[in-house]
Amino acid sequence: MSGGGCGLTYATIIIIIIILTCTFNTVNSNPDDHFIVQVTDHPNSHLLGSPTEHRFTAFIKEHGKQYSSREEYMHRLGVFYKNIVRAGEHQLLDPTAVHGVTVFSDLSKEEFERMYLGVNGGGGGGGVELSNGGVGTAPRLKVEGLPENFDWREKKGAVTEVKTQGACGACWAFSTTGVLEGANFIATGKLRNLSEQQLVDCDHTCDPSEKDACDKGCSGGLMTNAYSYLMKAGGIQSEESYPYTGKSGECRFDSQKIAVKVANFTNIPADEDQMAAYLVNHGPLAVGLNSVFMQTYIGGVSCPLICSKKLVNHGVLIVGYGAKGYSILRFGNKPYWIIKNSWGKRWGEHGYYKLCRGSGMCGMNTMVSGVVTQS
Ligand SMILES: *[C@@H]1O[C@H](CO)[C@@H](O)[C@H](O)[C@H]1NC(C)=O
Ligand SMILES: *[C@@H]1O[C@H](CO)[C@@H](O)[C@H](O)[C@H]1NC(C)=O
Repeated sequence: MSGGGCGLTYATIIIIIIILTCTFNTVNSNPDDHFIVQVTDHPNSHLLGSPTEHRFTAFIKEHGKQYSSREEYMHRLGVFYKNIVRAGEHQLLDPTAVHGVTVFSDLSKEEFERMYLGVNGGGGGGGVELSNGGVGTAPRLKVEGLPENFDWREKKGAVTEVKTQGACGACWAFSTTGVLEGANFIATGKLRNLSEQQLVDCDHTCDPSEKDACDKGCSGGLMTNAYSYLMKAGGIQSEESYPYTGKSGECRFDSQKIAVKVANFTNIPADEDQMAAYLVNHGPLAVGLNSVFMQTYIGGVSCPLICSKKLVNHGVLIVGYGAKGYSILRFGNKPYWIIKNSWGKRWGEHGYYKLCRGSGMCGMNTMVSGVVTQS
């Protein structure tokens, strides 16, 4: 957990500033551009009328995108082009998944990371040093006799519908509610949507072992901090009583309206067999991972040849696993995890991501946690 989220955030801002500065300089290096940037002089004007622009207009229509000016349109067209190139690179590096145009194809990598992720802190040294929020790691469970395939979505009611975090780096809050919704279902047999907004507005907890890793609403946080907060606050409200706005705001928590209480939480060992045992026995698990391949992900089992385990920047929910993932290419069948994301149902496989299992892919085994709830 070196660096913490603040470092990550500043780094992103610096990159954006550099990019803006470069754009500014190139625009101004042409003396004709001093007054008005003519569309035909735009650095992306070579894309006008190209197959890329045709795909771009189809994308705009499909996703109902609106751009405020011609200048913005030209800029987004250039970003879209870069993302098509990037999707091609991802396809080569990750041949068992399908990469291409997604709902996020008009956002630069930096914009995307700033707006749609939000785990504060990277997996520490060697990818096994956990942010443990002051609790230990759970005892090892027996792994013999686990089912070959398992999916909490089939246990009717353990997983709520895919949600949409919007342009707010609150993935950590969605990962947290996902764990609580599952644990509550297992404890009570009832499924309830729980409030991410309560966490976004009210939880400012910092990790006891990493003081820079704090929960900061739309600017990121950690699931283990959120459990600590909920144990102190008394519990979490339902989504209905404290609905999601996608913006950090004033805390409106009402202890009279608590829906679910957190009794305890624990880290899960960084061993994928243990993770499977905890998943089957205790419900969906919160995990952090490196999301670098997710902006262009369309479907299939993602199993990139290279994916840093140290750059954990996104919080999600593991809801199941499979023994043999269908893959469009000759690589055949791979064991995989079934991961619920919070980018809406139009992203990925109806809002879900499949990631190959067994090699700590993208650091997905470095920040794993679960809870015990009280109804
Ligand atoms: C959770 O919220 C979604 C969206 O509002 C709704 O469609 C779904 O029925 C809710 N689920 C439960 C269990 O209340
Ligand atoms: C909470 O879980 C930890 C294991 O992670 C355990 O050591 C501790 O006793 C538990 N606390 C309570 C109150 O159950």
